[in-house]
Amino acid sequence: MNETRPGGVIVFDHPLIRHKMTIIRDEATGHRLFRATLAQIAGLMVYEFTRSFETETYRVRTPMTETVGHRLRGLVTVVPVLRAGLGMIDGILDIMPEARVGHLGMARDESTLEPKTYLSKLPHDLDAGPVVLVDPMLATGGSASAAVSLLRQAGATDLRMICLVAAPEGVARLRRDHPDLRVYAAAMDERLNDKGYILPGLGDAGDRMYGTT
Ligand code: PRP
Ligand code: URA
Repeated sequence: MNETRPGGVIVFDHPLIRHKMTIIRDEATGHRLFRATLAQIAGLMVYEFTRSFETETYRVRTPMTETVGHRLRGLVTVVPVLRAGLGMIDGILDIMPEARVGHLGMARDESTLEPKTYLSKLPHDLDAGPVVLVDPMLATGGSASAAVSLLRQAGATDLRMICLVAAPEGVARLRRDHPDLRVYAAAMDERLNDKGYILPGLGDAGDRMYGTT
C-alpha cells in the first residue's frame, strides 16, 4: 500500500480506502452502511499498522516435514475510544481475533472542547505487547493526547494510534505532546471549523454510527 506522511502521520493512499472513505463522508449514508464501512476500512488498515509488530520463530510440523514458523511476539491489545472507536474494532478483530480489547470512555465537552474520561477498563499488563489506540476522529487532538497519556501511565510501552480522519490541528497537538507516537490515518483533512469539527470530515462519528444525530 502506498502512503504519504504529512506532519509525520502515515496516511494510506489506496483506491479501496479512498472509495470507502467517500461512502463514509456522504451525508446520505445511513448508520447501518456507515458502521459496516467503518469496520471494513479499519480491517484494511490492519496490514499496515501491524508492519512494525515483532515476530518470533518456532518449530512447526507440516504434513511433510518440520520447518520454522513465525508468530506475533507478545499480547496485542487494541483500545477503542468510546463511542466511535468501537466501530473500528470488529474490522480489526476479523484479521487479529487473538487481540485483547481494552476500553476508554471519553467525551469531548462541546463548549470547551476538553475531553473527559468516564471509563477506563484495560488489561493490567499493557506492556506485554503492542498497543493500538483506535479512534476515527483526530480533531483538536485533545482526546487522543489524553488517551495516549493515560495508556502510557497504565504501562503501554509499544504504542501507536490509528484514526480515520486527521485534522492538521490534531496532528500538531499530538506531535507536541507525544512526539514519538506513530499515527496512522485513512485521510488527512483540511482544517477544523469554529466548533472543532473536521472539514470536510464526516460529521459526528459517534452519532452517525449509532443513528443518534
Ligand atoms: C469524538 C471522537 C474523538 C473526539 C475527537 O468523540 O470520536 O474521541 O471526538 O475530538 P478531539 O480531537 O477534538 O478531542 P466524542 O467526544 O464526540 O464522543 P462520542 O464518540 O461518544 O460521540
Ligand atoms: N468528533 C467528531 O466525531 N467529528 C469531528 O469532526 C470532530 C470531533
